[in-house]
Amino acid sequence: MSKQFDVIVIGGGPGGYIAAIRAAQLGFNVACIDEWKNEKGGPALGGTCTNVGCIPSKALLQSSEHYEHAAKHFADHGIGVAGLTLDTAKMLGRKDTVVKQNNDGIQYLFKKNKVSFFHGRGSFVAAKDGSYEINVAGTAQETLSTKHVIIATGSSARALPGTPFDEENILSNDGALRIGAVPKKLGLIGSGVIGLEMGSVWRRLGAEVTILEGLPTFLGAVDEQIAKEAHKLFVKQGLKIELGVKVGAIKSGKKGVSIAYTNAKGEAQSLDVDKLIISIGRVANTIGLNTEAVGLALDERGAIVVDADCKTNLPNVWAVGDVVRGPMLAHKAEEEGVAVAERIAGQHGHVDFNTIPWVIYTSPEIAWVGQTEQQLKASGHAYKAGTFPFLANGRARALGDTSGMVKFLADATTDEILGVHIVGPMASELISEAVVAMSFRASSEDIARICHAHPSLSEATKEAALAVDKRTLNF
Ligand code: FAD
Ligand code: NAI
Repeated sequence: MSKQFDVIVIGGGPGGYIAAIRAAQLGFNVACIDEWKNEKGGPALGGTCTNVGCIPSKALLQSSEHYEHAAKHFADHGIGVAGLTLDTAKMLGRKDTVVKQNNDGIQYLFKKNKVSFFHGRGSFVAAKDGSYEINVAGTAQETLSTKHVIIATGSSARALPGTPFDEENILSNDGALRIGAVPKKLGLIGSGVIGLEMGSVWRRLGAEVTILEGLPTFLGAVDEQIAKEAHKLFVKQGLKIELGVKVGAIKSGKKGVSIAYTNAKGEAQSLDVDKLIISIGRVANTIGLNTEAVGLALDERGAIVVDADCKTNLPNVWAVGDVVRGPMLAHKAEEEGVAVAERIAGQHGHVDFNTIPWVIYTSPEIAWVGQTEQQLKASGHAYKAGTFPFLANGRARALGDTSGMVKFLADATTDEILGVHIVGPMASELISEAVVAMSFRASSEDIARICHAHPSLSEATKEAALAVDKRTLNF
């Protein structure tokens, strides 16, 4: 007799574990199946985000930022550091501890919410009499049955054709977070989010970093003015970014990796590095789900086809997070997980795709929500723009980080905020105000009229809102 559940969630990343908890809160008998293994072969809940994504990358970004501050910026504050050393093993160990705290935290949350956890690979066996049979292949084989399935199997790094990851020389995000000693030369292919974050970590620690990007524009999805400012700052920091390249043969050997490419002018070039990180996007994880057994529809990229409500082509089968369309972000996966659990309970779960924030955790950070200026121009939407530089913000001066700006875009007639774009210190935290404002359909004047604490970086947000009406007070 198979174990019966109301809801089975396949995948224990941010989409899956949050969906499982919300479904349990709503009174369902819930199981979550996840196959991620820690170094000892035990469970490691949290998926890509916790194990090889958001959490470990931010731990290393923090450590490397401390190192760079001690090496380059403490002196500005009159603090001398003699004999600065770097213990990479300890830095990586700290990162692993942070990851484990998060893994354990999710196990605790499952116990607290009475979610049954199964460690192993989940796959469809059959659909029978209005329910689904799911096999769990772990240390033992088990069959579970359920009325509702939520698939949250996430994504994996995309390899370059003919260049598989060996995680020694040719690294995915996984290997990029485990480099044992700072490489003298580090190459990255792809100057997207991972390329910039991982490139920043290892540059700060002393590597000579070169990023090869296929597109002719830098961060094409980011507001152009913000992307240009960020590019200028990153290049000044020492990141080498080559745009418009075409990557050719990649040879990996004992001495490192050699990459042949043509540059934007069409000239043949080669780059020799100790390690190469390939960060050219990610692919949905559907292999192993046995989707054929039940006829689950996939698109041409292998992602699960869903409608706006995360419904698949099968009754009572839902899919959320990186395995479906939309931005590959942990908070997007979580929002979809909550909304689907609520829809299963007959409620009206909702995800507002217009107000999903993006953050790139470089230094300075880049964060945005809503539409870019180029999108507004392309759609012919009449808008007003206002910017305010951190150079004119007292708190930024006190911090010693005056790079970047806040930019507001508002409807030309109604003044409703259409987009907010930030490159600068703590942009990841500042963007929340814009997300709240846009969720309540606020105008730029609403933000301009709100009292912001002094001295704070958030005053730059208020001033950028004032700039929409051309009445900044401090610039
Ligand atoms: P995942 O987190 O990928 O989880 C899926 C889980 O399902 C995994 O544990 C997997 O092992 C398991 N699984 C797959 N197939 C099966 C199966 N058949 N049976 C059982 N289990 C299965 N996003 C942000 O918002 N902020 C960030 O700062 C950020 N940083 C990132 C940094 C890096 C280096 C990377 C790679 C990604 C980062 N992301 C970030 C993206 C974020 O990690 C993903 O968007 C998020 O993890 C997606 O969540 P998910 O639940 O859909 O899938
Ligand atoms: P990405 O989509 O952000 O960037 C990939 C880059 O590689 C693009 O600029 C693309 O033009 C380039 N590229 C693609 N093929 C190429 C080729 N053959 N040669 C040269 N360049 C090529 O993907 P990335 O950085 O791998 O990250 C994957 C996803 O993970 C992100 O899109 C994001 O959703 C998520 N992520 C989010 C983070 C955050 O929220 N802070 C941090 C890291 C990842």
